[in-house]
Amino acid sequence: MHILHVVGARPNLMKAAPVLAALQRCNSTRQTLVHTGQHYDFNMSDVFFQQLGMPSPDINLAVGSGTHARQTAEIMCRLETVLLERKPDLVVVYGDVNSTVAAALVCAKLLIPMAHVEAGLRSFDRTMPEEINRLLTDQVAEILLTPSTDGDDNLLREGVLAEKIHFVGNVMIDTLVRLLPEADQHRLDRLPERYALITLHRPSNVDDSTLLNQIVDSILEVCQDLDVIFPVHPRTRKQLKRGDHVQRLRLLDPVPYLEFLALQRDATVVITDSGGIQEETTYLGVPCLTVRENTERPVTVTLGTNTLVGRSPDRLRTELDLIIHGRGKRGQIPQFWDGHAGRRIAEVLLQTPDRQSQHEVTAAA
Ligand code: UD1
Repeated sequence: MHILHVVGARPNLMKAAPVLAALQRCNSTRQTLVHTGQHYDFNMSDVFFQQLGMPSPDINLAVGSGTHARQTAEIMCRLETVLLERKPDLVVVYGDVNSTVAAALVCAKLLIPMAHVEAGLRSFDRTMPEEINRLLTDQVAEILLTPSTDGDDNLLREGVLAEKIHFVGNVMIDTLVRLLPEADQHRLDRLPERYALITLHRPSNVDDSTLLNQIVDSILEVCQDLDVIFPVHPRTRKQLKRGDHVQRLRLLDPVPYLEFLALQRDATVVITDSGGIQEETTYLGVPCLTVRENTERPVTVTLGTNTLVGRSPDRLRTELDLIIHGRGKRGQIPQFWDGHAGRRIAEVLLQTPDRQSQHEVTAAA
């Protein structure tokens, strides 16, 4: 069976690594890894391949950045050629980035079965590009692999057949569980004892420079008693006016996976608008304040350590105060966030009849 994986952006990589590794252990599978090139900077992509121990991509489509339409269309055109040449039996896509939906649409038109890892998550906010990517990808997927049972409920409500849905757990946590012991060797120098770790990259928070700078100012104002460590996404860097001149603020370039894992584990609080970080902090038991009005990962709020604070400095201040005084949320780890989701995903994928044997069955009939 020939399985082709499509990755493109930083958060795809920690999800794909455990699936590739689990399938690698199965002799009957041939794998091809395609990188769309949506993320291309060394510290947004290559360093993750190194640290996660992933094989280098077999093919890089090198699409780079662009408007949503241009980037998505470019991935579709270039990937179509690859799929026509390589003729995989199954394509696996990950998460909710533009590379995910672009690959999903190409597979649907070429009638190649496609599996979606991290299916079913919904923020119910269609102004988020990722929500559109999630909805469309799930509509055309043959195999939908969910990280939490709210995903199953959402898919059933949208009319997806129950037999296509498989609750396998959170595969990004597999990578975290495997690499956490290595994080100690990757602690940054000169870290204060207590600090808030910030990440911001959602277009709705960072594309308007005035708003972004207001958010950062209000975080600094609220975090009077804490140092603030802020690894800055390239999208955010363009809009950020503030320099490193506030003594308590440390601006960093995007940091590699292991360094960021160590930063999260040791933080007093994480303040973010990322999706994956809501999940990682829940696993690590670190309080997380999410600068959004909604989340597609509700278990991190109902079971985990996450609290939605929107963009309100008052809500941020109230929640931060609780955390600083040791009264932050104590969470639980959701079901199947256990380091074995990659194996469960591989088991499901290997049940897919390959196209060669499907043709043989049809010919014999
Ligand atoms: C993308 C995903 C988002 C995910 C995020 C993780 C979509 C719609 N969004 O957002 O869901 O949370 O990745 O990082 O797919 N850039 C660089 N170097 C790079 C990549 C990007 O400088 O290697 C800059 C470019 O100026 C680019 C901008 O960042 O225009 C945004 O990159 P893009 O891939 O369009 O979206 P992200 O904001 O990274």
